[in-house]
Amino acid sequence: MLAIIGGSGLTQLSTMEVTRRLVVRTPYGEPSGALTFGRIHDREVVFLARHGYGHTIPPHDVNYRANIWALHSQQVRNVVSVASVGGIRADLAPGTIVVPDQIIDYTHGRAFTFYNASERGVTHIDFTHPYCEQLRQRCLRAAQLAGEAVIAGGVYAATQGPRLETAAEINRLERDGAEMVGMTGMPEAALAREVGLCYAAIAVVANHAAGRGTSAGGVHLEEVHAVLQAAMSKVKNILERLVALDGD
Ligand code: HPA
Repeated sequence: MLAIIGGSGLTQLSTMEVTRRLVVRTPYGEPSGALTFGRIHDREVVFLARHGYGHTIPPHDVNYRANIWALHSQQVRNVVSVASVGGIRADLAPGTIVVPDQIIDYTHGRAFTFYNASERGVTHIDFTHPYCEQLRQRCLRAAQLAGEAVIAGGVYAATQGPRLETAAEINRLERDGAEMVGMTGMPEAALAREVGLCYAAIAVVANHAAGRGTSAGGVHLEEVHAVLQAAMSKVKNILERLVALDGD
């Protein structure tokens, strides 16, 4: 089964026919909300709003371990994360959709692993390619079928938030090789890998990153909402196709 973790701008899937909601308790505490099970075009799918259904949980307070554990406990194999980002690369203008292929992690102080030595000994995971390539390709194919333009690859920088970055921090991220910046990509991707879930992300550019383009003088947060709303209808088209491809 495919799971969709919705971020800012995607707290529900209107095309989904909801069949049940399930509150899952995990050894790591409470997920962001009940899992919403349903069907899109006769395929089963489960949805979880990362920031809670009322958008009340900031990026650094999301219980990533509980969210991933809850999905893992429900026969989920594939997880697609939808997340908003700031565009660092010049062509990543607001409204652009990207399927990233790499991550740089700048987060700190988050519960970031299931492998605490006291519980499971010393365990490492391979994270060379942080996203599941099979699922990435399926996202790209779904976008093609939906007729929605997406950029096939890019380096996602995960920052701590909740504040946005300084212009100098964005310059540093770019020197590091980052092309977009968001606050929720980690530890989510690594936790998914730890439990063997196939994980990919669809990133929606909400704004030019701090100090760039229309954000040269500051990020205009009041404009972000409208950009995300318009872009999320495209993302929903892609997700509909993706669900139809799941299991093929
Ligand atoms: N920075 C970090 N996270 C974000 C941004 C940004 O500019 N836009 C949307 N999420």
